[in-house]
Amino acid sequence: MRHFSPPIRRRALLGGAGALAGLAVAPGLAQAAALPGLHVAAAAKGRFYGAALHPDTLAHDPQAMAHVPIECGMLGSQLAFKWAPLQPEPNRFDWKQADQLLAYARTQHMPVRGHTLVWYQANPDWLVKGLTKANAARILTQHIQTVVGHFRGQLVQWDVVNEALWPADGQPYGLRDSLWLRTLGPGYIDLAFHLCAAADPSALRCLNDYGFDAGREAPRKRDAMLTLLSSLLSRGVPVQAVGMQGHLDPGAGPIDQKALAAFCAAIAAMGLKIVITEMDVRDNSLPAAIIPRDAGVAAYGRAYLDVVLESQATLGVLTWGLSDRLTWLDWQIPRADHLPQRPLPLDTEMRRKPLWYAMREAFLAAKMHI
Ligand code: G3I
Repeated sequence: MRHFSPPIRRRALLGGAGALAGLAVAPGLAQAAALPGLHVAAAAKGRFYGAALHPDTLAHDPQAMAHVPIECGMLGSQLAFKWAPLQPEPNRFDWKQADQLLAYARTQHMPVRGHTLVWYQANPDWLVKGLTKANAARILTQHIQTVVGHFRGQLVQWDVVNEALWPADGQPYGLRDSLWLRTLGPGYIDLAFHLCAAADPSALRCLNDYGFDAGREAPRKRDAMLTLLSSLLSRGVPVQAVGMQGHLDPGAGPIDQKALAAFCAAIAAMGLKIVITEMDVRDNSLPAAIIPRDAGVAAYGRAYLDVVLESQATLGVLTWGLSDRLTWLDWQIPRADHLPQRPLPLDTEMRRKPLWYAMREAFLAAKMHI
């Protein structure tokens, strides 16, 4: 049950002021003294809130890290648990980055989720070049047994398989034409979940993917996910939750609230949980001026959270980073005007933005999770 219980730390319950004792008061920290952090709002409704940190933030940005215990009740890592950092050469495992995060999380009594065991990206060259039909099952088995075994008891959730779906590739079940599908066929998903369950039975096992919320491809993506889940469950594959990444894009059109609610209900009806694992709101389609831009980001995020938090299956929300200081969107999906993106709850000065308030209100407006 540990993955279902939002951590409520005593310091957080004392309010923001208790969390700030001894820190120089920067504008963001002064704001944080006025209202407790997002994880307190989430916990009030039985959910968790947290952020997946970039390792550079953890290693080099104490000013940003000062806000993490104020806002977060759960942590993830944007890079540390991926294959390339963990097994850079065959049979050579490097735990350094991941252990840094875990050591920090322990000091804050914060649970950590792992992302991700099986993906078509972030793989080391030796794997991409050397994976064959003959060796793939052995290599996948060794990686999952070693990694999940190493972190056994230290992670509350795993994204076991990431981004398995891409219906446009025309493969069975709408699966993505990935190195894993090409070498092992659709059974790679079964194998990964069984191995993870055996190596650490208590970590919540998630199938993580994106694109369920809006836009032209969303209906196909939702259908493919539901079909895949029922097929996995029918043959006893121990998937327990859907990770919905929540990389939101107002440019894709409004959140398809009715269809998203039906999607969440269908997942819940299968007895599965939902975790929002990588939420951010890209602002490429929004005006340059900060006030309307932030308002657009906040309204879009709220429209999404209102639907997913309506579901009793939804355990909590992680954003992909906490502040706009270091967001993948700036280097992978930059704005046409080259202004920095503003996709996250805190700005680059670590001040709370309209999205922060929208998220807080969405948590407080949600039904109690039981
Ligand atoms: O560390 C090197 C640095 O030394 C070098 O100067 C720089 C030059 O490009 O690259 C740095 O590494 C990059 C790393 O991010 C750190 O910023 C990698 O090239 C780049 O591939 C890596 O991208 C990450 C990507 O996943 C692939 O692992 C992004 O940060 C990360 O945000 C992104 O996260 C994914 C989720 O895992 C799955 N869902 C989508 C999400 C966004 O793409």
